[in-house]
Amino acid sequence: MSDPKADSDRLYQDPALAQFYDLENGWAADFSFCQALAKDARSVLDLGCGTGELALALAKDRTAEDRTAENKTIVGVDPAAAMLDVARGQPGGSRVTWHLSDAQSLRLDRRFDLIVLTGHAFQVFLTEADQRALLNTIALHLNPQGRFIFDTRNPAAEAWRDWTPERSKRELHHPRLGAVEAWNDAAHDAASGIVTYQTHYRVMASGETLSAESRIRFTSREALTPLLADAGLTVDEWFGDWEGGSSMPSAPEVIPLGRLVTP
Ligand SMILES: C[S@@+](CC[C@H](N)C(=O)[O-])C[C@H]1O[C@@H](n2cnc3c(N)ncnc32)[C@H](O)[C@@H]1O
Repeated sequence: MSDPKADSDRLYQDPALAQFYDLENGWAADFSFCQALAKDARSVLDLGCGTGELALALAKDRTAEDRTAENKTIVGVDPAAAMLDVARGQPGGSRVTWHLSDAQSLRLDRRFDLIVLTGHAFQVFLTEADQRALLNTIALHLNPQGRFIFDTRNPAAEAWRDWTPERSKRELHHPRLGAVEAWNDAAHDAASGIVTYQTHYRVMASGETLSAESRIRFTSREALTPLLADAGLTVDEWFGDWEGGSSMPSAPEVIPLGRLVTP
């Protein structure tokens, strides 16, 4: 397994950049879908939880009775201290158990009813070895009837084609810094399926620009299927988007909803 620190991404690890995450990534269909799945779950593990918006909402959904039950827990895991610091500082932050860890080596010695990775966190695993290690972590932390779900952008939809400075330019409003102009640039390596992209934030008032370079991997449903099986996981349903659309070849997302293979 690669050293997660060596692969660390300033976009998440640098507090100056992590402060922009929630400006760009609010509540979306992936969170609503997982929130609905979590209704039946007594415990939820959110891997690559980032700034914790989903985990915080799930903790808020719990009843007073749930909160006193020891096994009704919401756990958020992320290796980026800057992201977890934002999560901990949110209202209700103490209702979630936060763990600073990469997902590959995580061993909590307990199992969950639902394990989620949202916001394309699956794509930060850049090698097949890291993808296998993550799937192994999922298998080791799932209850026999528990379910997992995650999303990875469908390589066939070629989302990176929109990540050019011209097409991605957008204006954000930062509560302290005011107007911020943001844009991306990206290059796709067809051999590895890895997209290297830059994210830039220019603070209009000061003219200062903060930038990070990130890498994410695009994996097809065909490539993912044997990895899931090797980890002892089976897929009940493949979705093509977070609205519950079917898994078509040109769908924007590859989303497996599954569980442990029963012996
Ligand atoms: C695109 S963000 C998604 C955050 C959150 N799940 C959401 O939906 O907003 C990807 C997250 O994966 C985290 N990450 C990076 N490497 C990781 C690893 N090895 N294990 C678990 N999470 C990782 C990053 O720190 C970041 O918070």
